[in-house]
Amino acid sequence: MTIEGVLIKTAAMAIAAVALGGCVWLKTAPEEANGEAASPPILAPLNGAPDVVDAEDWRERRAPLLRELFQSYVYGYFPPPSKASIIDQRVVSENAFNGAARVEELMVKAPNAEGEVQFGVVLITPTNVPGPLPVIIAQNFCGNHNAVPLNGVTRSKNAPGMCDGSWAEPIIIRILGEHIQTAPLEKIIERGYAYAAVYPGDIVPDKDETAQSALAAFHTTQDKMKRWGAIGAWAWGVSRVVDVLETLDRFDADKIAVYGHSRLGKSALVAAAYDERIDIVLAHQSGTGGATLTRSKAGESLKQITTSYPHWFAPIYAAYAGREGDLPIDQHMLIALIAPRPVLLGNARRDVWSDPVGAFRAAEGADPVYELFGGNGLDQPNLVDINYDADIAFHMRPGGHGVNGADWEAFLSFLDAQTDTGN
Ligand code: GCU
Repeated sequence: MTIEGVLIKTAAMAIAAVALGGCVWLKTAPEEANGEAASPPILAPLNGAPDVVDAEDWRERRAPLLRELFQSYVYGYFPPPSKASIIDQRVVSENAFNGAARVEELMVKAPNAEGEVQFGVVLITPTNVPGPLPVIIAQNFCGNHNAVPLNGVTRSKNAPGMCDGSWAEPIIIRILGEHIQTAPLEKIIERGYAYAAVYPGDIVPDKDETAQSALAAFHTTQDKMKRWGAIGAWAWGVSRVVDVLETLDRFDADKIAVYGHSRLGKSALVAAAYDERIDIVLAHQSGTGGATLTRSKAGESLKQITTSYPHWFAPIYAAYAGREGDLPIDQHMLIALIAPRPVLLGNARRDVWSDPVGAFRAAEGADPVYELFGGNGLDQPNLVDINYDADIAFHMRPGGHGVNGADWEAFLSFLDAQTDTGN
């Protein structure tokens, strides 16, 4: 289903929910996590490998094994390592946001098996804050021109037309929140963060028909069942943005955060799980294939997600529908691959499709790995009392699926706490 399809579906669900009052969609997540603990246990023997005894063991043996298994069963194989470079750099505005920031556009190229893929990055750099600056790589749904809606920002080709002034746009924003397209950029700048907007549809379009040829251009493996899906490719795109940000000394290479909502929350987690240069993760409402346990009975099932979005995953993943317990891994292991780096998991009470309870249980399941590293892991008593100083912060707000001011307030509080930034 395309992004337009999802937006229409979400809007229809919201209208139906209001009309039917008290229907399933309106059920709210409880404060305590119920259901079974994450399995397999994170440090237990796996695939013939003995249990994990310490952080070095995790880093040297278990993490590489898990990275292999997630490629083999869920996201498909990534292409061989490559680095992106900047082929064009252009100033959009020297004094945007009332003089608080410089805005530039980078054109980036990264090699693939058939040549190269090119994509734009819009960089917002606060000018009144001493550097080097922490930077948020923010994946967007509606194109860079909607993520940073300033004159002179190039329109992302492939961006859904629905985001560009259609009749449905105000309804979408009403339902999915005021920051579904555009983050609170003034606030982000004011708090001392640089912002790098990237549109993942430039790397692989979010449509089954067109995604397949874009994915195939990378030749990841001969095994069709294990070829990579769009989530892996979007995560790869985030890493290519890291390649170029690391060459710009105005950014602090130890404070690179990645943000994504929903499907892009999935790719944010995958990016950080595979790329240790990413220091902090903001994964909002990432749901199935993201932070939520695949074995969880709540929310979107493996069957539903692989039927609606076959291009997101390796084809083999769909074969586990109805027998999720046969998978050697589950998503708490993806979160644990980010350890010891901090991760915020964003949720909303009525967003039961994204299964907040399953995500909390995944966070609990990942916790022992953070502790192996001497961290505090998930350190909050329930789904609502967030601890911004913890390695895994679980944010829960009222309302449904989408991105609003309360979400960004939480993201920035977490970044402030984890980077000692904050203005
Ligand atoms: C659909 C899909 C989810 C996804 C969401 C989104 O609802 O089922 O898995 O997270 O779209 O990206 O908004």
